[in-house]
Amino acid sequence: MKTFRLAVLPGDGIGKEVVPPAQDVLQAVAARYGFAFSFAEFDWSCETFKATGRMMPEDGIERLAQHDAIFLGAVGFPGVPDHVSLWGLLIPIRRAFDQYVNLRPVRLLPGIPCPLAGKQPGDIDFWVVRENTEGEYSQLGGRFTLPDGDEAVMQTAVFTAKGTDRILRFAFDLATRLDRPHVTSATKSNGIYHSMPFWDERFARMAGAYPAIRTDQYHIDILTARFVMSPERFDVVVASNLFGDILSDLGPGVTGTIAVAPSANINPERRHPSMFEPVHGSAPDIAGQGIANPIGQIWSAAMMLDHLGEPEAGATILSAIETVLQAPDAPRTPDMGGRSRTAEMGRAIVEVVRRG
Ligand code: NAD
Ligand code: IPM
Ligand code: MN
Repeated sequence: MKTFRLAVLPGDGIGKEVVPPAQDVLQAVAARYGFAFSFAEFDWSCETFKATGRMMPEDGIERLAQHDAIFLGAVGFPGVPDHVSLWGLLIPIRRAFDQYVNLRPVRLLPGIPCPLAGKQPGDIDFWVVRENTEGEYSQLGGRFTLPDGDEAVMQTAVFTAKGTDRILRFAFDLATRLDRPHVTSATKSNGIYHSMPFWDERFARMAGAYPAIRTDQYHIDILTARFVMSPERFDVVVASNLFGDILSDLGPGVTGTIAVAPSANINPERRHPSMFEPVHGSAPDIAGQGIANPIGQIWSAAMMLDHLGEPEAGATILSAIETVLQAPDAPRTPDMGGRSRTAEMGRAIVEVVRRG
């Protein structure tokens, strides 16, 4: 039987609570489609850091490299500074495995009330394609004391032609496969002097290679307003690392809850494992209570199956999520206005996956 080797990193906070139900869903869908998973669990987290001074062991990347994919919960928890935990685990994985695409769907699901008036499922349905290995996320720079004694920092953003072109190309290739081939670029070339005019130049050049695709571009400030005022106008939105990070929380916020949003950190060349995780973090405010919504993690499992070449199994998971959300007596976690627990929600999705 075909067996996928998965590295499972529950991580911190609610990561530990939403990963197990998603593994149950994976087992159920594998049984139905005749493949299997072998799960290798790694308990790397802020707890590990407190005990060992490292978020992952020195050979962590080599150990992960042995797997077909990485399934991650969330990283970061009070007690360890966020830039230490994230630059000790999540960000090194994205970089070591050249997962330069962070693909994040924004979709209004049935059964989740939209905070915008009058929107139905189908009205909001687009992709954020986020650059995931360079840009504003960098360790270049440092702290200084200026001659007048004032303290200062410099934080350098790096945009390479290769890194910019490959994310733009991914966005255009994705748009080619959609009913409405349309790419929107997130820019800020009026205020940011070097990187964003460069981004615009590369975008215009790439657009020239895809004459059938409609394009537009907006500065990030007005783009955030348009996400709220007219989200139905978007199909593929391509953005630098930081702008994409912001847009991929804003999009799900506009569709009712960030807790359902999934993401795929992809190495499109498949030279390295890709990583699948929800958009949300470790939610310290609700961690330990068993009430986190597992849908973002479960939808991430569906994206992982698409990537692993099992798209029917992926589609089955997504349709099970939609079926459960539409049932009038469906379990609902508190973020969706209900009183259900994580496990109950997970079980309901497993049941639908099992019975088909
Ligand atoms: P967060 O996404 O963890 O939480 C934001 C809000 O959304 C909180 O009120 C939380 O309770 C709620 N929420 C998030 N996921 C939920 C779920 N599944 N069900 C119900 N409610 C949910 O963002 P934050 O508070 O900014 O970050 C907390 C920690 O997580 C920080 O250490 C941060 O750096 C880290 N973080 C990690 C990742 C990641 O691993 N990819 C992503 C974002 C944040
Ligand atoms: C995300 C997260 C991370 C990011 C943080 C935790 C470093 O917000 O995956 O969106 O900014 O990439
Ligand atoms: Mn984020």
